[in-house]
Amino acid sequence: MFILDANAPEKLAHYLKDNQWLSNDDYILSLTKAGEGNMNYVLRVTTKLGTFIIKQSRGYVEKYPQIKAPEKRVLTEAEFYTKISSVNALKQQMPKILGLDAFNNILLLEDLGKASDFNSMYTSGYILTKDETLVLVAYLNVLHTKSKKEVSDNELANLEMRKLNYEHIFHYPFLIDNGFDLDSIQDGLQSLALNYKTDALLKSKVQELGTHYMAKGCYLLHGDYYPASWLSTSNGVKIIDPEFCYYGSREFDLGVFIAHLYISKQPESIIDLVQSTYSDYKSLNQSLLNGFIGIEIMRRLIGLAQLPLQMNLKDKAKLLEFAYQSIIQ
Ligand SMILES: Nc1ncnc2c1ncn2[C@@H]1O[C@H](COP(=O)(O)OP(=O)(O)OP(=O)(O)O)[C@@H](O)[C@H]1O
Ligand SMILES: [Mg+2]
Repeated sequence: MFILDANAPEKLAHYLKDNQWLSNDDYILSLTKAGEGNMNYVLRVTTKLGTFIIKQSRGYVEKYPQIKAPEKRVLTEAEFYTKISSVNALKQQMPKILGLDAFNNILLLEDLGKASDFNSMYTSGYILTKDETLVLVAYLNVLHTKSKKEVSDNELANLEMRKLNYEHIFHYPFLIDNGFDLDSIQDGLQSLALNYKTDALLKSKVQELGTHYMAKGCYLLHGDYYPASWLSTSNGVKIIDPEFCYYGSREFDLGVFIAHLYISKQPESIIDLVQSTYSDYKSLNQSLLNGFIGIEIMRRLIGLAQLPLQMNLKDKAKLLEFAYQSIIQ
């Protein structure tokens, strides 16, 4: 088994040459962390002749090695890229696949440049431009329209990853005693969360939403459509990291997207723009959509997958209440 290691460039050069991913007249100049990420081991490889991204998935979450994760997830991610490769409008919004090693769970991707993700929406109040918003909606429009199946089947079910996500979205945040002290994030958050953890109506609605999340659907979803999966590059907004993709309900992708617009305090006009430009907005199941918006907000505030938020407790309380109403309505 080849283990990717930023401190072992020579071993990597050897590995790359064995796979003919590095020509004999090329060599590695530097290995650096590609950017912020939690799940996988992702490096930027700079060589004399160019640069690319190398990503390895392992049997655990890179940032929390005690949490198990499906070892083969990078193969699912690659499958997504292959799946959309016939749709130019999607392909041009994502990096190209340069190589795949299914034995070692390694994916080579085109380097989109030293781009930043959109975490600045949480950390420094960045407001999406109209053009960026339109690109983000257009991507979902094309993805959901072009992928539509008449009858759902087992393609790209990605069940193991979905189970992991299920735990962290629908289950763990609502456990009263889950071993995660929310006061370590912010004083008072634990008792704020307790109101929701003990709400029977909420819990039954959350369970229904979870069942929807785990159900088969007819639309290919990105599965993790939020600011950390969007890159601001010199060629505009690009989308990465479809490791949570699956065929499901469109409301999930759109719900996660809109939830993060609320969490990052984007103006109403941006949220309106998303709703008015998503192609089939009126035919969506609105209660499912609102439910997914609400649950994503909640799990980001009281679950383990915290965001770099600059938000006081009072605003979190307001947002949690909004999320609660969206779920139970
Ligand atoms: N093709 C690319 N071009 C340029 N930068 C990239 C590319 N792919 C990834 N990155 C950078 O590396 C970071 C981590 O990549 P990615 O999001 O794929 O990893 P991950 O471990 O799956 O992350 P997460 O924990 O958010 O799921 C990205 O935020 C981005 O900054
Ligand atoms: Mg990821």
